[in-house]
Amino acid sequence: MRRVYLDNNATTPVLPEVMEAMRPYFGEHFGNASSIHHHGQETRAAVERARESVAALLGCRASEVVFTSGGTEADNLAVFGLARAGDHIITSTIEHHAVLNACRHLEGKGSEITYVPVDGRGLVDPTDVKRALRPNTRLITIMFANNETGVVQPVAEIGKIAAEADVYFHSDAVQAAGKIRVDVNEIGCDLLTISGHKLHGPQGVGALYVRKGTEVEAMLHGGSHERSRRAGTENVPGIVGLGKAAELAIAGLERGDGLGTNNQKMDNQRMAAARDRLEKELLKIEATGLNGEGAPRVPNTTNIYFDGIDGEALVIALDLKGLAVSTGAACSSGAIEPSHVLTAMGLRSGHAKASIRFSVGKQNTAEDVEFALALIPETVSRLREISPIYYGVAKAQK
Ligand SMILES: Cc1ncc(COP(=O)(O)O)c(C=O)c1O
Repeated sequence: MRRVYLDNNATTPVLPEVMEAMRPYFGEHFGNASSIHHHGQETRAAVERARESVAALLGCRASEVVFTSGGTEADNLAVFGLARAGDHIITSTIEHHAVLNACRHLEGKGSEITYVPVDGRGLVDPTDVKRALRPNTRLITIMFANNETGVVQPVAEIGKIAAEADVYFHSDAVQAAGKIRVDVNEIGCDLLTISGHKLHGPQGVGALYVRKGTEVEAMLHGGSHERSRRAGTENVPGIVGLGKAAELAIAGLERGDGLGTNNQKMDNQRMAAARDRLEKELLKIEATGLNGEGAPRVPNTTNIYFDGIDGEALVIALDLKGLAVSTGAACSSGAIEPSHVLTAMGLRSGHAKASIRFSVGKQNTAEDVEFALALIPETVSRLREISPIYYGVAKAQK
């Protein structure tokens, strides 16, 4: 059976170039990057090359990149590494759980947290952030691009507010890196998170940008790895893979050609064109709507509600026919509650539960989009035929 994967915000396949770059570090180059002999020197050099590549992607110095086990750890390191007892933190209602639950955890221990709302388009208003500032505000943590809707937040404006107030600013850029330009100086942030597996690198590796002079308290205690900011023997193959993925992401952003000579694959512009075609055609289906309409969005994501449909049922029905999409964050799959992101945007529970996220990756082809378009309308109408809710809605609208 043909299988098409349009769930690239959950994870992306490792690109062949990334795999090739990693391969020697599972075999002949196996040294511990902290060892002083030849084997260690070899892997140390590879780790430092990867650090340069990640720094180039983010517009920072290599010494400001801390490798972690992924986006979750980097988000946690930013929040727990900066917050002290009695501090106030400003975040938003639509953050990934890696930030939201870290903040909730601190709240349970006595920190004060302000969760700024978003409007119907899914956008944080920077004036709400400014209004939330208090004398004891230590950290503002607002994501760059939302994982469910792709909506891009006004991070540069928030960065200015943070700088004026002399408050640290962290941004979770996991869903922005590789899709749009991410430059820490343009954003004006002190900390920024990325994750390998969201930009065609491997799972289980990520990085936190830590602006020079920012004192982040380590969460893991052990050796003095990563300049004592993150103890633990480096995941050399993972880090090398992240470095290569960062190089390819830069190429994709600069030249619109992230994949070298392989023109079967999608570059960033074609990825955007594919998303746009998918979105335009799906919105022709009756009783559908775009979540995040009118807001700036990353070029690969569209989140659409199909009135009267249970999103999970649609995901399963499409999967049975070979198409992989999702109702939202993979880590919330199976949750009974509707998405916290969509409800924060004011969607009523019915619409939130009827919403599907489609996310395109660089491996997808234009034919993949046609495959999806051949399946989705008929599957939606079949599900609606057996949906008491849909006919209820349709009748009520008459
Ligand atoms: C916005 C955002 N932040 C953080 C994470 C967590 O990253 P990781 O899966 O590398 O822990 C994700 C992954 O879903 C994400 O989408």
